[in-house]
Amino acid sequence: MKIIKNIFEFIEYRNKLSKKIALVPTMGSIHEGHLSLVDTAKQYGEIIIATIFINPMQFNSSEDYKSYPKDFDQDKEILQNKGVDILFCPSISEIYPDGFDTTIKVDFLSELLEGKYRKDHMEGVATVVTKLFNIILPDYAIFGEKDFQQLLLIKSFVKDLNVPVKIISSKTIRDKDGLALSSRNIKLNPDERNIATEINKSLIMGVEKILLGEKNSKNIIEYIKIYLSSFNLIKIEYISIRNPKNFEVINKINKEFVILIAVYVGNIRLIDNIIIEEKNG
Ligand code: PAF
Repeated sequence: MKIIKNIFEFIEYRNKLSKKIALVPTMGSIHEGHLSLVDTAKQYGEIIIATIFINPMQFNSSEDYKSYPKDFDQDKEILQNKGVDILFCPSISEIYPDGFDTTIKVDFLSELLEGKYRKDHMEGVATVVTKLFNIILPDYAIFGEKDFQQLLLIKSFVKDLNVPVKIISSKTIRDKDGLALSSRNIKLNPDERNIATEINKSLIMGVEKILLGEKNSKNIIEYIKIYLSSFNLIKIEYISIRNPKNFEVINKINKEFVILIAVYVGNIRLIDNIIIEEKNG
């Protein structure tokens, strides 16, 4: 695996490549979820490029940024063993040199849920991903469904700005007990880790209730809220039911919907969702 830290060097190297490139952008702390993105990337690209860049612009608190898990040596080894061809891992000053003054904002998707509770987060994601696309010029880029709002945001600016990359979504990977894999999970203590499984459980309970005939979103949200509130370690930030295509709020649940949840388990913020879509929808 070739490791490149410098943008200029990367572009020189990239210019010599003529095969289809699939990109897996990450913030490191690589887990099975990222590796499944690499597996998806291999279905599309002939050359797999991963990036590791912990993007300060998408953290709304410097404490959260500083405490974000990092283990570059281990990440490097895992990605190499997984068959990644190139690892691009620029420094902060490479990506945000002095005088950097541009932000990409997707109006609707930047303001709600993740954007509302993590101020400037969505702009930070859109800006860094745009930069990575412009530097790497991938044919495909793979993003996980766990960050569903992020996935829609990226699809949205790629379409609006005619960015020549195909966005591929990849299913959420879960531990055996249902907890969605996240780099933040390693920060949970054993009690918190145990309780965190309730998030996925509550989403499944919500869908089961819908299948039993409850179509009013408010009632489903209330049902999930009551369930999750019974766990002292869980503090709910939002529960929302939306259209998985345009992210509009759904009041009366029909065939397609996504239930999105953000909670704190202890001090650790976790998000998850469950997506119900028609096959050819
Ligand atoms: O999902 C992530 O890990 C990050 O938001 C991303 C897409 C790598 C941008 O920093």
